[in-house]
Order: sequence, then C-alpha cells, then structure tokens
Amino acid sequence: KHVAVLMGGFSSERPVSLSSGKACADHLEAEGYTVTRVDVGNDVSQVLAELKPDVAFNALHGPYGEDGTIQGVLEYLQIPYTHSGVLSSALAMNKDLAKRVASAQGIPVAESRVMNRLSIGSKHPLKPPYVVKPVSEGSSFGVVIVKEDQPFPPQRIGASDWPYGDTVMVERYVYGRELTCAVMGDVALGVCEILPVGHAFYDYDSKYVAGGSKHEVPAKLSSNIYQTVQKLALKAHQAIGCRGVTRSDFRYDDRFSENGEVVWLEINTQPGMTPTSLVPEIAAQAGHSFGDLLSWMVEDASC
Ligand code: DAL
Ligand code: MG
Repeated sequence: KHVAVLMGGFSSERPVSLSSGKACADHLEAEGYTVTRVDVGNDVSQVLAELKPDVAFNALHGPYGEDGTIQGVLEYLQIPYTHSGVLSSALAMNKDLAKRVASAQGIPVAESRVMNRLSIGSKHPLKPPYVVKPVSEGSSFGVVIVKEDQPFPPQRIGASDWPYGDTVMVERYVYGRELTCAVMGDVALGVCEILPVGHAFYDYDSKYVAGGSKHEVPAKLSSNIYQTVQKLALKAHQAIGCRGVTRSDFRYDDRFSENGEVVWLEINTQPGMTPTSLVPEIAAQAGHSFGDLLSWMVEDASC
C-alpha cells in the first residue's frame, strides 16, 4: 500500500507534527508500506490528487490538521484517511463544544466560560485559581494559570502578538494528578500518569524536551479509578463520534477522599506520535508495538 504521511502544516504545532510525521513515516516504511512524506501547504489538494495514495496517514496537529479542514479535503478527494472524520475533528478541536457534548453524556467536566480575550475586562471571570486557554489549540500553547494573588487579565492574553485566536476558555483549575488515556477503535488501551519534572504543569517544554516529564504506564491508581478513567475516555471517543486512535486528558484530585474527583479535560483526535509521546507508550504497554499500532491505523482508514 502507498501511504502519504501528512505532516508539518501551518499551525503553531508544526514542529510537533514534523516530529510525529517522521516517526510515523520511518516506522511505516519498516512495516513494508511505500511512504511519501508530504509537508502540507496550500497546494495540498493538488499534491494529493496527483499522488493518489491508497491512504493518507494524518500526522498533523492543531488548526488545519486536527479541526476537520484537511479531513474535508480528503473526503472531497475520496482518499481514505486515518483518525477522526470532519465533524468529530471539528467538534473535538473546540474545547468548549466538546465539553458540552461530553457533559451531556454524563462525563464530568470543570465549569468554564468562553470569552473574547479583547473584551475580557479586569474582573476575575471565575473564582481563582482558574485556567485561561485558547478554545482551539493544542500542546498547551497559550495556556495561562491565574492564581488567587494574580491580577486579571494576565498580560499575555491581551498582547497584540497573541497568535491563538480571540476566543478563550476560562476554566476552573482542577487540582490533582494528570492522567491520560488512549483509545484505539472501541477499546481503551490504558491509563498513563504524567509527572512533570521541574515544571508547574505539563507545558510545551515538559511535553517535548526529552526528560521533561515522567510517564507512569500503567498509572498507579485503584482499579476502580483506573476503570473509571478508561470508561470515560471510551465514552468521550464515542460521544464525539471519533474514529481510529484518540487520547483523552484528565485531572484526578485524590486529596480529600479515596475515590476523589475525576475530571475530563479534552479529547485529542490527532494525539502526538513523537518519540516522547504518550499514545505510543500506552499502546506498547498494551502489547502493540509502534509498528503494529500504525499498521492498524492505516488498515482502519476510511473516508
Ligand atoms: N496536541 C498534541 C500533539 C497532543 O495532544 O498530543
Ligand atoms: Mg489537546
């Protein structure tokens, strides 16, 4: 099979995508596929129309790659592609709309509001601490945590060179442990705990600098909580209509009771596939080598 690995693109996550794309292309070649690496630009529809691959492996992240737009191009060209389709990609990319759909299915989420960063005013919109994040970004770009003693709005959010769009989500800060769960088709693959090393939270550097965070797979949780997280990740994947592989991120606050509070933060329809990424690690622990996982994704592709 001829697989076009779509990578790069023009979102803030371009460097992450180039890294995901390289890892996926290398391993797909090792699995015996014929691979063409496509650095996605404005001419992507012509490039793909000429290339006529059997499958497009989507290794893009962020706007234009994860939000339904490239998926629309692939539908139009009738090229089977990996990961989620147009509607679920668009829905998952918008953290506010995704939370509304998840919450309607009984998935626990943190209360939040959506605001325009330019008309945000100077009064705290929620009781601190809370998080302000672009409503449609990934890799923690633009995430600002506002603590009790900090003025609002944080300087960065009003900055004239803010590149992440004017709609921001203001969300209650959920204390606790950072968990993530991969889903492959209709199976939750396992839960990983992210232990940041020397970072206040799992920010861009701790995600992509080697040694920037410690991953514990499987996460050390009671089997009750472990199962709950897996069930919620699968439910979110299904509620949003996702396909192939996704990864749901959670917070788990176990300070006050043994069962604690599990809160679903978001679903990633194009989870990172870099050498330090979570999905390949969780899949390996579940018995799927990186090559097996990628082959499954290629064979599962559709349009
Ligand atoms: N947005 C990055 C790639 C992730 O969720 O893994
Ligand atoms: Mg994300």
